[in-house]
Amino acid sequence: MIGSNDNGAPDGIEFKADLTLERLKPRLEEVWRDSGIDEAQRCEFERRLRAHWRPLFEILFRLYGSRYDFHYHIERILQTAAAAWSDRPAELRSLDRHRINEPDWFQSEKVIGGALYVDLFSENLVKAREHVGYFQRLGLTYLHLMPLFAVRPGNNDGGYAISNYRSVDPRLGTIDDLRLLAADLRRAGIVLVLDFVFNHTADDHEWAQKAQAGDREYQEFYYLFPDRTVPEQYEATLREIFPTVRRGNFTWHDGMQQWVWTTFNSFQWDLNYGNPAVFRAMLEEMFFLANVGVDVLRLDAVAFIWKRMGTGCENLPEAHLLIQAFNHLARISTPSLLFKSEAIVHPDEVVKYVSPRECQVSYNPTLMALLWESLATRQVGLIMQTLRHRHRLPEHTAWVNYLRCHDDIGWTFDDDDAAAIGIAAYDHRQFLNEFYTGQFPGSFARGIPFQENIKTGDMRISGTMASLAGLEQAIEEDDEAKKELAIRRMILLHGVTLSIGGIPLLYLGEEWGMLNDYEFVTDPAKAGDSRWIHRPKMQWDYLEELNDHIDTGNGSIRNRIFKSTQQLISLRKELPALAGQNMELINTFNSHVLGYLRIFEGHRLIVLANFSEEVQSVEGNKLRTAGLGRFFEDVIEDKTFVTSSPVELEPYQILWLKRV
Ligand code: GLC
Ligand code: GLC
Repeated sequence: MIGSNDNGAPDGIEFKADLTLERLKPRLEEVWRDSGIDEAQRCEFERRLRAHWRPLFEILFRLYGSRYDFHYHIERILQTAAAAWSDRPAELRSLDRHRINEPDWFQSEKVIGGALYVDLFSENLVKAREHVGYFQRLGLTYLHLMPLFAVRPGNNDGGYAISNYRSVDPRLGTIDDLRLLAADLRRAGIVLVLDFVFNHTADDHEWAQKAQAGDREYQEFYYLFPDRTVPEQYEATLREIFPTVRRGNFTWHDGMQQWVWTTFNSFQWDLNYGNPAVFRAMLEEMFFLANVGVDVLRLDAVAFIWKRMGTGCENLPEAHLLIQAFNHLARISTPSLLFKSEAIVHPDEVVKYVSPRECQVSYNPTLMALLWESLATRQVGLIMQTLRHRHRLPEHTAWVNYLRCHDDIGWTFDDDDAAAIGIAAYDHRQFLNEFYTGQFPGSFARGIPFQENIKTGDMRISGTMASLAGLEQAIEEDDEAKKELAIRRMILLHGVTLSIGGIPLLYLGEEWGMLNDYEFVTDPAKAGDSRWIHRPKMQWDYLEELNDHIDTGNGSIRNRIFKSTQQLISLRKELPALAGQNMELINTFNSHVLGYLRIFEGHRLIVLANFSEEVQSVEGNKLRTAGLGRFFEDVIEDKTFVTSSPVELEPYQILWLKRV
């Protein structure tokens, strides 16, 4: 199935690439003739095609060169790319030209992200358009709408079991509603992020239905096996992602009398990218989304898209080649489109997806997990040890820094990073699971287990940011001191993700301190998946409370969380030092205080973050050596300090320090 596995370029590959392109010219002419595109636009495309063709061809050759039908697929891929450019709306073409000249736009301190489920936030897309003002009020400039495509009936894994990539779930609206929302957002200076769920389709997607009807061409879109022999061989080296759904990675299909590869839920069928027809079919879906007006595609479950016997079938070199191929094609036909990687895997692997040739931006699951780790331990040793050699990224890329998302928290730190500072990784993960499920004595957290694996002892955590940070427990106990600490923990965490380098991403609801929603168990389509606990419905009446000046119990807590979050966001936008990715750790000589320096084009900002509920102090002259002068001010609270005396941090306080 695989063309060539070696790392060197195949012999004479450039010659082969050039000759192939020459031979395909007439096919390209056909597309141009049918589309009536003008000469200038044609040249634009062909210029980019020339720039990307050789590396693209080489990748496709390595993946598919040994297939009998390689040339046919190459031809179709080129035609698909040309058609995508000729179908591209004029407004998006002009955005393409703009972004080509400003490729680092996403590194600006002005970029702030938010993510939401349309149904839970505003019921549907038409109503979402009425809330663009809300996004602006909060300061968002990047909006990720959780998958909103047509899905299978019943359980659809929060939209990740897609039955048609070109139509919107009718409960949410239509594709035209989505286009209108995209246009409204663009006018409001907000980029649109949607998922590209390309590892699997739902079992009722047209391709899967044809496979079920016995169509051989479509059966080859998936991994099907008549008996357990081959699945057993694969199982020997695979992990289980959803062990409480089903043991193993394969599901028996009665109709076809075949085992189907299903990494996630049994109704999510993994696509077989060993077949170039799958690559091309998905490419068409990608271009369709790009031309609707999507700015960033979130590449879902990237780690799993290539399988090879005898491996864990995660993060294989071919997975990277596939993304690079999609990326070259995007650069050619829809150049303003960026990719965001969703690889929730070991930190060594996460970073391999991040490059201008692959995914320009990536979730930062390691930072996310370690911020929660620091809150639980009140120590910054592991986060420092990790960030020291793991925060840096290639140029023209960025982290997406988040605290919670629609998924669970997995403790994805590196065992050797932990060992280096005397932490036993397995025990530490057990501790963190106990802590965040509230079982550890004195824990403030109210999370619940996700996908506990009895065999391996592995477990992940579900829960909203506020419930994990202690607010739920504090409200239940009606304990003012605990409420105060919980709110401070939330502000502290936001203060870090907003300043550490990269795009901060809020999971909407966080700005109000939304608590766990235990109601999900009453819906049979959700009951089996504890992640629904942290996917609550937006409460629009909270917005009215914002204008109440009288303290109304929980209302005033929400006000405070909202206003502090909003304030930090608008402060970040005024601080050029927070652009880019450059971040240097500062040794604060205090194991509870995280310190780092941000520098961008001569602007500097020092951040100090106290992860404990005690007052902590840091010697002022340590900060002086990090480049502050004699006097400096905390821009969050407008307070001035002198470096000749110790800097005191209140419990969970975060300082953003600027030279005065
Ligand atoms: C991604 C999504 C997750 C989903 C899985 C399968 O990891 O974030 O919610 O369950 O893919 O699509
Ligand atoms: C695993 C996968 C990730 C997925 C998550 C869902 O961590 O690596 O892709 O989002 O499970 O829980």
